Amino acid sequence: MTDSEPENLQQDTPPEKPKRRFFIDTDPGTDDAVALVMALRSPEIEVVGISVVAGNVGLEQTVQNALYTVEICGGGVPVYVGAKRPMNRDLQTADLVHGRDGLGDIGLPLQGRTPAAESAVDALIAAAKQYAGELTLVTLGPLTNIAQAIQRDPSFATNIARCVIMGGAPDGVGNTTATAEFNVYVDPEAAHVVLHSGMPTEWVGWDVTLRHAMLTPEENDSIRAEGTPQAEFVADIQKPVLVLWEKLFGYAMVCLPDPLAMAVALAPDIAEHLPVHMDIEVIGSLTAGMTVVDRRPRPSDHNALIVTRVHRDRFIQMLHDAVT
Ligand code: RIB
Ligand code: CA
Repeated sequence: MTDSEPENLQQDTPPEKPKRRFFIDTDPGTDDAVALVMALRSPEIEVVGISVVAGNVGLEQTVQNALYTVEICGGGVPVYVGAKRPMNRDLQTADLVHGRDGLGDIGLPLQGRTPAAESAVDALIAAAKQYAGELTLVTLGPLTNIAQAIQRDPSFATNIARCVIMGGAPDGVGNTTATAEFNVYVDPEAAHVVLHSGMPTEWVGWDVTLRHAMLTPEENDSIRAEGTPQAEFVADIQKPVLVLWEKLFGYAMVCLPDPLAMAVALAPDIAEHLPVHMDIEVIGSLTAGMTVVDRRPRPSDHNALIVTRVHRDRFIQMLHDAVT
């Protein structure tokens, strides 16, 4: 190098990896709120929109809860209002689990925030078009909004790159009826439309939730001990779940199905996936909302992936990382 040539001080820094884009459909919900915090505070993804559906509590409150959660994570992500009831049934809520306000009844200021003007279905369709082939859709509640988007726009299903669903009970053991998990039970017709839409669906069910996403009060306290406002939020809203579990089973636990699904969406290699042929019962008086997985050895007419295992230690670490 001659004196006249300036030393090349610019090291060849690798180009930044482009952020993956996520759209989240949710019914917050204490566990939904934790999943939203994981996504909103992840440096690896961009949340392009959040659509809200009635489920754990009524739509007005789930919208306010989503807006509050976005605000405590720094804002900047639009929240869209979706369906206030299932496609063909009356709404069934789960306020016993999540509290009357849906976020633990701990006195949070969950009123008076304003959602985006566009409807959830319009926003879902527009985002799928804008990011065709690269959008990850994560669903955390009843699938009403998604089914309506599929029925309104035939290209919606083909535009979605991945659809990670918290829903179903592949082992046939339900949490809402003997055979059905809440999100699918509340709107089985919508779940049936989504399953048969051709979208690449990955189902994170109640079975793997019970195996890998139950936290002890001590584990919940250790997340709170990270000391940030988000850490206190995600831990404190779990109060009704801890109380309910203690009442039902004699020991307090925190139950995090939606964060488990979000972890699978954020880090696919955290999970084991099994291709299956699956269907959803929409008629049965005893089995409506059941996810029927055919485990007979079959030719490859698989129509879904179910998650069969998740690396629990990595999952717990992701919860801590989300609030530090
Ligand atoms: O069955 C668990 C699911 O139902 C979770 O999404 C929880 O938030 C409730 O919506
Ligand atoms: Ca939910």
